[in-house]
Amino acid sequence: MAAVDLLARADACANFIRSKAPGFSPKLAIILGSGLGGFADTLQRPVSIDYRQLPDFPTSSVVGHAGRLVLGYRGQVPVVVMQGRVHFYEGYQPWQVAFPARVLCRLGIHHLTVTNAAGGINTGFAVGDLMAISDHLNLAGFNPLIGPNEDKLGPRFPDMSHAYDPAFLAALERVAAEERIALRRGVYASLAGPSYETPAEIRMLRTLGADAVGMSTVPEVIVAAHMGVKVTGVSCITNLAAGISQQKLSHAEVAETADKVKDTFMRLIGRFLDEAAKMA
Ligand code: HPA
Repeated sequence: MAAVDLLARADACANFIRSKAPGFSPKLAIILGSGLGGFADTLQRPVSIDYRQLPDFPTSSVVGHAGRLVLGYRGQVPVVVMQGRVHFYEGYQPWQVAFPARVLCRLGIHHLTVTNAAGGINTGFAVGDLMAISDHLNLAGFNPLIGPNEDKLGPRFPDMSHAYDPAFLAALERVAAEERIALRRGVYASLAGPSYETPAEIRMLRTLGADAVGMSTVPEVIVAAHMGVKVTGVSCITNLAAGISQQKLSHAEVAETADKVKDTFMRLIGRFLDEAAKMA
């Protein structure tokens, strides 16, 4: 797709969203991963838009991804929430996987929180742990910036040295400590999926320095970095990665664990957004 087209499409979508909530100008956005969508229900004065209504927005086919954009307030702070996302393995083009994050950034947010369900690779991790993402390994085999660069969105070769903003990461860890929520920290490796990894692949990923593995998030983080929007990431360790325990991996286990930790997850995210709002 021609670069000029991408900017026009993202702005058309952002304008459509503005037309549904006149005067609403979000400062923060959050993308909620598998089974973690409940946070959207905590917003005040919500306006909910089905992804299918949004021009060019890809729609998810995955169980646990509602496919709704919710505009609402946390106290006085306007926040936009994506309840569910799409993945490369669903058959979308790289630019499409990252398009929703582009639209959030064009709405004028100054900070994006990304969340996901992930398999734990670090043997110190337990099922149900929450992990602050300190960095990532993009092993999904694609990059959402491939194609002509739109200079109005960002540079051709964006710096990724601080893809997960250190000040916001520190704020997240501070909030977790105050709330007495155990929060791990680690590197998230993104693979295309949709098959889970083999035990040999997990050993490889551990050798490469990965602490958790999943099939999402990285495209959104790359476009946010491209557009100069600061990012914070949280993984919910829904299962131990392949080969670590005897248990077979299943989406049912992922969903079940996400459901069990959702109250703690929502408390952490809620308090973090309160801090992030002050850090403009
Ligand atoms: N591997 C890849 N993606 C995942 C996993 C996993 O073990 N758990 C949740 N998403």
